[in-house]
Amino acid sequence: MENFKHLPEPFRIRVIEPVKRTTREYREEAILKSGMNPFLLDSKDVFIDLLTDSGTGAVTQDMQAAMLRGDEAYSGSRSYYALANAVKEIFGYEYTIPTHQGRGAEQIYIPVLIAKREREKGLDRRKMVVFSNYFFDTTQGHSQINGATVRNVYIKEAFDTSVKYPFKGNFDLEKLEQGIQEVGANNVPYIVCTITCNSAGGQPVSIANLKAMYEIARKYDIPVIMDSARFAENAYFIQQREAAYQDWTIEQITYESYRYADCLAMSAKKDAMVPMGGILAFKDQSMEEVYHECRTLCVAQEGFPTYGGLEGGAMERLAIGLRDGMRQEWLAYRIAQIEYLVAGLERIGVACQQPGGHAAFVDAGKLLPHIPPEQFPAQALSCELYKVAGIRAVEIGSFLLGRDPKTGQQLPCPAELLRLTIPRATYTQTHMDFIIEAFQKVKENAANIKGLTFTYEPKVLRHFTARLKEVES
Ligand SMILES: Cc1ncc(COP(=O)(O)O)c(C=O)c1O
Repeated sequence: MENFKHLPEPFRIRVIEPVKRTTREYREEAILKSGMNPFLLDSKDVFIDLLTDSGTGAVTQDMQAAMLRGDEAYSGSRSYYALANAVKEIFGYEYTIPTHQGRGAEQIYIPVLIAKREREKGLDRRKMVVFSNYFFDTTQGHSQINGATVRNVYIKEAFDTSVKYPFKGNFDLEKLEQGIQEVGANNVPYIVCTITCNSAGGQPVSIANLKAMYEIARKYDIPVIMDSARFAENAYFIQQREAAYQDWTIEQITYESYRYADCLAMSAKKDAMVPMGGILAFKDQSMEEVYHECRTLCVAQEGFPTYGGLEGGAMERLAIGLRDGMRQEWLAYRIAQIEYLVAGLERIGVACQQPGGHAAFVDAGKLLPHIPPEQFPAQALSCELYKVAGIRAVEIGSFLLGRDPKTGQQLPCPAELLRLTIPRATYTQTHMDFIIEAFQKVKENAANIKGLTFTYEPKVLRHFTARLKEVES
């Protein structure tokens, strides 16, 4: 199918979930009732749901069929081995623990690694600092709940939406090494490498950067955790943008990428395409002790280690989803869909982060320059977008980042972004055109959009449950 301007979706839609159209008046009331927080809207009131790509996409026929093969034995289930073998084959990792989702893996490995450092080196966890190219909020939350401080070491291009750069998810290697030296290597219980880097706009990390980061980690004897929600999209970007890998398959690039970590924690609800599921896996014998401690914690928190947080059928489905999510033409279509949306938004003058893996990230700071960061411009934009078109999106800015737990001050945020997250194989090009038209209407009224202030603010992970109201002008 060469020389076509546009290639349509490479699948047939065979199951339909009806959605309802609502009036502006209805939506104004609904968003007010939600405390100006789209997380608290009922999904029945949402026309296009771009809150997340996590567990919200379609599944393939083969994944659905695999569910029927589930072995629901409490221990030693055949379905566990289907999953563990897939992990070994795809990533080269020896030891697998299934978890109910990504944070299920985090609640196991994070306390184990912090306690291990404390025990072995006689250190105080309050002095510990963990580094990442950029922490996802639950990974940050678990690290902080366990007493450590987090530090993001991203490159200067990462959040500048006016700059194009092929690997905006890369670590700033100099800042990483300087940071480790400054706090002392013993005080760094782990490094988290997030691929793709969600918070920077689904931006990829190159293999060259992974390699160099891992060398630093080896030098200081610090384990590296690959936060792997979007491992396949990252591999696709490497194939498209990193010269040395353009002739490699997605499978080869994935395997290669995982040589530069010791452990993987995965929310399987993204690239592995399952509605619910997660994986914690360890590379080799060097991580055997940690693996055994994690298994014990898994029993207490998730379930027996050969099912973790998952039923047998779900492990079978995940084993297939890991592979289906890596298909070359699927990834090419998915990334092209995001590029189409970003190009359409930029054409009407809405500045975006360069297209990333799973979402278009609108620069709300630029669209609403009259709203200061502490009044959450991207959150205000999300409420307006909902009022105009029933589209639900999510703020990735100051509201999400939160306060410094020690000082209580709002943390300075590198960009105020609104994430339009695209669920897998759920919305078509017509939906993308509708979203672009909605932004045209939002833009025309931009000067009248008001900032927001809290009426209820939880201490951690506030963006899930906080309530806000418009600031009086
Ligand atoms: C990079 C990254 N890590 C971890 C998580 C947490 O995964 P889960 O939502 O499955 O608990 C997410 C979820 O969005 C994520 O994007």
